[in-house]
Amino acid sequence: MRPSLSAVLTGMVALAALLVTAPTAHAADPPLRDLAAAKNKAIGTAVTGSKLTGTYGEITAREFNWLTPGNAMKWGSVEPTRGTFDWTEADRIVDFAEAHGQDVRGHTLVWHSQNPNWLTNGTWTPAQLSQLMTDHIALEVGRYKGRLAAWDVVNEPFDEDGTYRETLWYDGLGADYIAQALTAARAADPAAKLYINDYNVEGVNAKSTALYNLVRDLKARGVPIDGVGLQAHLILGQLPSTLQQNIQRFADLGLDVAITELDIRMQLPATAAKLAQQRTEYDAVVKACVAVTRCTGVTVWGFTDSDSWIPDTFPGEGAATPYDENYVPKPAYYGIATGLGGTGTTPPPTPNGCAASYSVANQWNSGFTGNVTIRCDAGSSLSSWRVTWTFGAGQQVGQVWNASCAQTGAAVSCSNASWNGSVPSGGSATFGFNGTWSGSNPVPTVTLG
Ligand code: XIL
Repeated sequence: MRPSLSAVLTGMVALAALLVTAPTAHAADPPLRDLAAAKNKAIGTAVTGSKLTGTYGEITAREFNWLTPGNAMKWGSVEPTRGTFDWTEADRIVDFAEAHGQDVRGHTLVWHSQNPNWLTNGTWTPAQLSQLMTDHIALEVGRYKGRLAAWDVVNEPFDEDGTYRETLWYDGLGADYIAQALTAARAADPAAKLYINDYNVEGVNAKSTALYNLVRDLKARGVPIDGVGLQAHLILGQLPSTLQQNIQRFADLGLDVAITELDIRMQLPATAAKLAQQRTEYDAVVKACVAVTRCTGVTVWGFTDSDSWIPDTFPGEGAATPYDENYVPKPAYYGIATGLGGTGTTPPPTPNGCAASYSVANQWNSGFTGNVTIRCDAGSSLSSWRVTWTFGAGQQVGQVWNASCAQTGAAVSCSNASWNGSVPSGGSATFGFNGTWSGSNPVPTVTLG
C-alpha cells in the first residue's frame, strides 16, 4: 500500500527536524567561559600575576571569565613594610582581566594568615587595631574602586566546631571586627559584592551553620553582606552529599553563593581511576552550583597542577586541578565542561599545537608502568618527536615499548619508534614503559621537544 501524501510529508518534516536538531556525534565544546556564560555563571581561576604570559596566559584568557589573585592582594603582599606598598602583581592581574573581559574577585582583606610581620608582631590597642584594619580596607578597596566585582572581605573566621577562630582580629576586637570590616569595604566601593569566605563549609555541618547564623544576623542588623564563599578545597572521595542543599540554604537568605577555591586533591600518584573519579566530582560540584540560581559560579584554585598550592601544603597529595603540569587538560577539565552543560568530548587546544602528558598507569611493590601520550591539535602535526623528563625520586626506566629511551642519572629522553613518529593533526601517539621506584613515585614534568 502506498503511504498517503500527508504521511510522507509528516515523515519529511520529522526527518528535517532531526537533521536540524540532532547533535553531531562529537560536537565541539566551546571554551569553559562560553559554556559558563550560557548558564549565566562565572568560571574562574586563581592566578599568579607574574605567570600571565605564554601558555599560562593563553589558557587563563581563553577558558575563564573570572580571576582571583592567588596571593597578590593579601596584606603581606601589598604592604610588606609598613607604609611601603607593592601593587605590581595585583595591578597586573586586574589589567589582564580587563583586557580579556574578565571579572575579578579581590582576595582577601581581613585574614589571620599571610599578614606582614610588622602587623603580626606589633602590639596594638583595640582602637589602633580597628584603625589599621579599616585604613587597610579603605586603601586597598579604594584603589580598585569600580574595577572589582567582588571582595572576600573576611577570610576563614571560624574554627571547625563553629566557634570563632582566635586571631589577631578576633582577640583584639571580638566578633564585631567582621561587621566593621564589611562596613568599611562598602564605604570604599559601594558597587563591589562583599563576601565572607571559609573552608569546610561546603556541606551542612557545625562550621557552615555558624557561618549561616552569622550572615543571617548580619543581614538582619543591616550590615552590608552580599554573599558567602565556599572555598571547596576538597579531598577525592569526600564530596559532601549536602553541597547543593547547603548552597540553597544560603541562597534562601537572599545571599549570593560562590564556590571560590575549588580543588580536589588525591594521594599521589594520580592513577587513571583516581582521575576519572575526580572528573565525576568536578562535574558534581559545578552542577550543584548551576542548579541554584543564586550560586554565581565556580573558581578553581589554580587551573594547572604546576600552579597549585596542594603539593607544598599537603605532602604526598596533588593532581588537584583541571590541567596537568604541562597544560594538558585532565579528565577533571571535561568534568567542569559537562557540569556547565557541555558534551565533555572535545579537547581544548593545546599550547603550540602539540603536547605530551605522563601518567602512572599501574604501580606495585617496587615497579610501575608509565604511559606517555603525545597529542596534537587540529592544524598541528609532528613527523618525529622526543619527550624528556627528570625523575624526582630515583625512579629508573626499564623495558620500553613504542619508543626508545635512554636514562642518564635522573634524566630520561625518549624518541619515537620507526612506526609512530608521525602524529597527525588532531591525533596522538603513546608509548609506555615499566620502571622501578622506592619510597615515592612522583609524576615528573615532561617536555615535548
Ligand atoms: C594559598 C595560596 O594558594 C598559596 O600560594 C599560599 O602559599 C598560601 O595560601 N585558603 C585561602 C587561600 O583563602 O588564600 C589560600 O591560598 C589557600 C587556602
